[in-house]
Formats: sequence, C-alpha cells, structure tokens
Amino acid sequence: MVQVYKCKICEEGFIGDEKPTHCPFCGAHIENMVLAKDYVKTEVIELTDATRKNVEAAVGIEISNAEFYFCAAAKADNVFDATMFKRLAKIEAEHASTLAKIIKAKNPKISREKNICGRNKHNLKESHEREEKATARYAQFLGEACEPRAIEVFEALIDIEKDHISLTEGRF
Ligand SMILES: [Fe+2]
Ligand SMILES: [Fe+2]
Repeated sequence: MVQVYKCKICEEGFIGDEKPTHCPFCGAHIENMVLAKDYVKTEVIELTDATRKNVEAAVGIEISNAEFYFCAAAKADNVFDATMFKRLAKIEAEHASTLAKIIKAKNPKISREKNICGRNKHNLKESHEREEKATARYAQFLGEACEPRAIEVFEALIDIEKDHISLTEGRF
C-alpha cells in the first residue's frame, strides 16, 4: 500500500510503497525519511553569528554548484552525464533553498543560463572538485554549529555530497 513519507532535510514529500534509499529531491539518506504522519519538525532556534555566516556561505556554495550543474547538463556530450548533471543541479538547488530557510532568507534565485562550465570531461573533474570542497566546508561548519537544525542539515549534506564525489570517481 502506498504511503506518504517526508524528508526531514528538505521537507519534501514522497509517495510510494517503501521509503526511497535517498530522498529524490535532496539526496538525503534513508534515515532522514519518515512517515509524514510521524514527522516532527526540528525548529530553528536563534542562530549564533558563526552559524548564520556559515549557512550564508553554504547557500552561496549550493547556488554556484547548481548553476554549474545546469551548465554542465546543457553541454554534456552523452545522455548519462546530461541526466546526472541535471539531477545534481536540482539537488543542489534544493539544498540552497533548504539552507536559506534556516536563516529565513528568500528562496535563492538560480540561473540555468550561466556559462560557467567547460566541456564534458572537464566538467566531471570540476564536479569532483566542487563536491570535495563543499564536503570539507560543511565538515568545518558542522564542527562550529550548536543548533540542532544546522547540525542535522550539515550532517545530511556531508553524506549527500560524498555520494556526489563518488559519481565522478575515476572518470576524468
Ligand atoms: Fe529531501
Ligand atoms: Fe549540495
């Protein structure tokens, strides 16, 4: 019987027979998927200046990565990479809006038109580097965070961006 699930990270819903192994919208791992009827929101309490600054920086990272992936999807020379880059673009866009909500900022504008990528092979390498950088920054931000919602999101993002690193492993 289909159920309604909810992702604790991006707060999107999912309707299906079983929990997805990864949230289809933000990529969060299965432990973040709960039955919608059991969902309890992790409230955002007042943020320290350090966390606010770190979340702002994280929004910037996600916007830049989403725009890079939209460019890479448009320039991909094969269906596999076009599909992968387009999904990555949408996942990173989801991360940008998830993070923006923590600091009560407007939903970030993400352009699909920016010419900020190279050719396909180059983009695989740049994807790898961007995901490694994001993972390292989020590990630092996690270490500096003391608010439950910021901790929950940074922990999930680290797992997700690690998955993204593995997608391009050995491909460039
Ligand atoms: Fe999600
Ligand atoms: Fe991300």
